Amino acid sequence: MSDVQQRAERLDRSKFFGVPIAGFERAGRQQFIFLLLAGLQPQSKLLDLGCGVLRAGYWLIHFLDPHCYYGIEPQIERLQTGRTLILEPDIERARHPRFDSNANFDSSVFGEKFDFFLAYSIWTHASKPQIEIMLDNFLRDSKPSAVFLTSILPAVWPGHDYRGTTWFGTSHQSNVAGCIRHRLSWIDTECRRRGLYVLRLGRERDGQVWLQISRERRSALLFRTIWAEPRLVRVARRLIASRSAT
Ligand SMILES: C[S@@+](CC[C@H](N)C(=O)[O-])C[C@H]1O[C@@H](n2cnc3c(N)ncnc32)[C@H](O)[C@@H]1O
Repeated sequence: MSDVQQRAERLDRSKFFGVPIAGFERAGRQQFIFLLLAGLQPQSKLLDLGCGVLRAGYWLIHFLDPHCYYGIEPQIERLQTGRTLILEPDIERARHPRFDSNANFDSSVFGEKFDFFLAYSIWTHASKPQIEIMLDNFLRDSKPSAVFLTSILPAVWPGHDYRGTTWFGTSHQSNVAGCIRHRLSWIDTECRRRGLYVLRLGRERDGQVWLQISRERRSALLFRTIWAEPRLVRVARRLIASRSAT
């Protein structure tokens, strides 16, 4: 078991840290890999919206040059847990990550223009007005070539599309867990309205779909898409393979 997974396993299990402990290391590393595929470089300035206990932040703070990682997390205890129990003791001193705990997704607090916005497992809880704020802030506080990587749970049926105006799930204000869905067509419309392009990158086993949003029509990903093979296709393929082997 990796060191970071061991540290996650040692966290107080009577508390919920916003993300599952099982697969903690893998899920953080996966975000890092998607960012690398989208062109992340050591000197990139990156904003991690809702950085929680630094599941991805752990990898990003290690990889990025000093003064390049920025995280926003309003649930102070989660952020402190990440900083003291997930990160190694000396790494903050060496890398100078910066943090803020505003609950308005306000990226201007750092006075930077970012190359990357990351909001993983954030739009699976954020309301439509909150997503619009994040898109507007991306336009205001990022460089022209910047990339916004995010994930959503697509709403297939109209009844599943979240109509609420507030965050849904655990936060600095709530202990009630839960996820919500948004229609991909709504995301497309909101991006188009702002002159932004959306690229669907891939779907995870839990159904979350990765999106890449940018001002420029980009093909910076090393792969056009990273779709997992649908389960039905995989089972059928194995069945055919085992039949032809007998
Ligand atoms: C499902 S967790 C994902 C955490 C992190 N992105 C990751 O992948 O490990 C969602 C996080 O968003 C945080 N959050 C809740 N309300 C927020 C807000 N208004 N602004 C930013 N983050 C918020 C929660 O406290 C929680 O840590």
